[in-house]
Amino acid sequence: MRRFSFPADFAWGAATAAYQIEGAVDQDGRKPSVWDSFCNLPGRILNGDSGAVACDHYHRYESDIALMAALGIKHYRFSLAWSRIVPEGRGSVNEAGVDFYRRLVDCLQAHGITPHATLFHWDSPQALDDRYGSWQSREMAQDFADYASAIVSRLGDRIQHWMTINEIVCFTHLGYGVNELPPHAPGTIVPSLKQVWQTSHHALLAHGMACQAIRAATPQPCSIALVDNFLPTIPIVETPEHIAAAQQAFPICGTNGGIVAPALTGVYHPTLLEQLGENAPDIQANDLKIIHQPLDAFGFNNYSGVYVRACDQSPGYEILAFPTTYPKMQMPWLWICPDSTYWGIRHLSETLDRPDLPIYITENGCAAADQVNGKREVIDTDRILFLQLYLQAAQRASQEGYPLKGYFVWSLLDNFEWAWGYDRRFGITYVDYATQQRIPKTSAQWYAACIRANTPIETE
Ligand code: FCB
Repeated sequence: MRRFSFPADFAWGAATAAYQIEGAVDQDGRKPSVWDSFCNLPGRILNGDSGAVACDHYHRYESDIALMAALGIKHYRFSLAWSRIVPEGRGSVNEAGVDFYRRLVDCLQAHGITPHATLFHWDSPQALDDRYGSWQSREMAQDFADYASAIVSRLGDRIQHWMTINEIVCFTHLGYGVNELPPHAPGTIVPSLKQVWQTSHHALLAHGMACQAIRAATPQPCSIALVDNFLPTIPIVETPEHIAAAQQAFPICGTNGGIVAPALTGVYHPTLLEQLGENAPDIQANDLKIIHQPLDAFGFNNYSGVYVRACDQSPGYEILAFPTTYPKMQMPWLWICPDSTYWGIRHLSETLDRPDLPIYITENGCAAADQVNGKREVIDTDRILFLQLYLQAAQRASQEGYPLKGYFVWSLLDNFEWAWGYDRRFGITYVDYATQQRIPKTSAQWYAACIRANTPIETE
C-alpha cells in the first residue's frame, strides 16, 4: 500500500446523510420530508425503494459509531433531519428529535470522534412544500435560519463544526425541472428556467441567513462551512495556456458562476448572468451581502470533473466531451477524474481568489458492483483504486500548500442513493439490507491502513 503524507492534524473522516441512513421516519415525532413524499410517487425511485428503513441507523447508531472508531476514523460528517427537529418546518421544536442527535454526538465524542453536522442534506419538511412550494419561496430561507438557530442553541455546546447546506444544485436545479420529470425531491416541474434559478437563489439566501443565525446562537466559537459539488475544470495539459483556459471556464461551467461564485465572492458571474438573460433570478437589494457571509471553511464534494483546453476562437476555451470508453464507476456521471480534486481545490483558492479559505473534501467515493463472496467478504479493489487516485491528487494539493484540512469518504455505509434506491452502493461498509448486517469492505481496511500509515512531512 502507498503511504500518504498529509499534515499531522489532517482530519480523516467519513460522511453520511440523515435520510440516506436513519430510517425510523415516523418515530419520536418526526414528520414527513419531501423525500418521503417523493418516494411515494410511482416510478420516481428505482425498484420503488424509500428511506423508510434505510440502514436503521436511528436504532443502530452506537454500533455504527463503534465500527467507525475501530477503523480509526476521527471525524464524522452527518446531517440533521429538519423534520425531526421542527416537524412542521416552522414553529415548535420537537425535543425528542433533538435528543436523538444529542445521543449521537455524545456517543461520537465518547469514541474520540469529532462531529461535523450538516444542517440540510435535502430532506426539507413536506409541510413547507404544502405551504409555499419549498425553495420556490423566499420564506424558506427564513424558516431554515430559524431551524438553524433552534438546533445550534440546543446542540452548540457539543458541536463546533457546522455545515449549512449540501449541494444546492441537486435539490434546486435537479428538484425543479423544466419540461421533464426532475429526479430529486420535491420533483416539481416549474414553468421556466428563471424559476429554477430562483430556487437556487433562495437556497443561497438560506445559507447566508443560517450563517448569521448560527453565529448568533452558538455558545462557543465554531466553524461554519458551505458544502458544494461545484464542477472542477481540468486543463487537458498543464501548460500555461490550458491552465488559463480552465481558469477562464471555471466560473461559467455548470452552475459554478451562480452557486459557488456568489457564495464565495459575493457576485453572480457576469458572463453567466449575460447568458441567462431574462432567465436570471430576481436578486433583491442586500441579497448578495447576506449570501456572501464570512466562512470558516468550505466543503468540497468531489466526484468528477470536466476537461478543458485552450482554443483560438471565442471564448478562448473548449469544454471536451468524454469519449465513450472513458472509465467510469457505477453511476452515469461518475467519470474517474482524480485531477478534479487538485484542480477543484486550486480553483477555489486561486481562480475564485479565496486562498484564505480552509477546504475539506466533504465527500469522495464511488459506487461499485460489490459482491459478497463465500467467506462473507467484499473485495472492492476497484473502489480502492478510485480512492487511492483521488487521495494522491489531494496530497498534491496539500503539498503545494493549498489549505486542505481534511477528507471524508462517502460513505461510511452503503445507503439509500436517492433516485437509485439501494441499487447503488457507495459505502466502505457493505450493508446487507435483509438482516442489517454490516460487513466492512476491503476498502474499509485499506482506508484504516491509510489513516494509520499517514506520515506527515515536518514543516517549520
Ligand atoms: C452526493 C450526495 C450524497 C450522495 C453522493 C453519491 O451528490 O451529496 O448524498 O448521494 O452524491
